[in-house]
Amino acid sequence: MSTLPRLVSRKANAERSVSRLRADSSEGTGCEELESVPTEKETRAALARAETREAGIKAALAPAVAAREGARILVYGRTRWGKSAFARHLVKAALDSGVAGTVLIHDPKFPDHAQYEGIAVSELSLVGVAVQAGSVVVCRPPMSAADAAHAARLLSESGERTLLLCDETRRALGGSQIWCDGKNPDGTPGERSFEWICLEGGGLGASLVLLVQRPRQLPGDAVDSAQTHVVFGLGGRSLTYLVTAGTVPPEAKDTIRRLPPGAFCVFGDDDDWDGKTYYSPE
Ligand SMILES: Nc1ncnc2c1ncn2[C@@H]1O[C@H](COP(=O)(O)OP(=O)(O)OP(=O)(O)O)[C@@H](O)[C@H]1O
Ligand SMILES: [Mg+2]
Repeated sequence: MSTLPRLVSRKANAERSVSRLRADSSEGTGCEELESVPTEKETRAALARAETREAGIKAALAPAVAAREGARILVYGRTRWGKSAFARHLVKAALDSGVAGTVLIHDPKFPDHAQYEGIAVSELSLVGVAVQAGSVVVCRPPMSAADAAHAARLLSESGERTLLLCDETRRALGGSQIWCDGKNPDGTPGERSFEWICLEGGGLGASLVLLVQRPRQLPGDAVDSAQTHVVFGLGGRSLTYLVTAGTVPPEAKDTIRRLPPGAFCVFGDDDDWDGKTYYSPE
């Protein structure tokens, strides 16, 4: 097999400059996405009625706080629409509210910098030392999402209320709707830690927050165990999928399509939507 040449941008900037109009074209046909970008007028109307981000985060954490168990939160939205910025605030709120005592974040997006504050580690063997030193541990490449999930499971089983946040959930998948589980040193399949966190972990205080651009790729146990769905601006096939799946009520579809960057709605697992949107400037 030939070796790929090393390709580096002239600007050597990790964050590519991508037009918002083109960024999400993989979510559907190009036409669908172009139509779904909100106009200035729609943006102003959406923000005029919005409640604060803090109120939205409280709504997202409410089921976990009420049940005194781990939180299961799925966060959807177009690329560059504010999911990671929201997640930084959510981490702080989860710690402040007692939902979590320790947060592990898998943050593989940018090779040269982390998007989250915390103690950065790049391999599983360093997580133990890091959690003794601080409450937020940022798992960076080459550490895999499977190793971060394994660490979250071990911590939860030891009695620590642990929240695992996957910033780019795509990297935790081994294909559509399949978790990418780790391997044992002898090459055999490792523990199914994501499945454990979804199905058993909540009662032990394990929380899971997944940030996703393409909801239809999520494994069924993540969707079935979710308590709340935080939906940023979305259009095309992804929005249609969420409506068809019953995650987004049909009456919220137009609102979601028009949400400007940073604004979001929160849906529980009942059918009712309170009509609220949330936004605070970053
Ligand atoms: N509430 C907000 N108010 C103003 N600007 C915001 C807000 N939230 C995010 N932004 C800005 O929008 C840009 C994209 O935010 P962010 O990186 O959180 O998006 P994302 O949805 O995580 O994107 P991706 O899917 O590509 O990772 C950033 O420049 C950020 O500063
Ligand atoms: Mg992001």
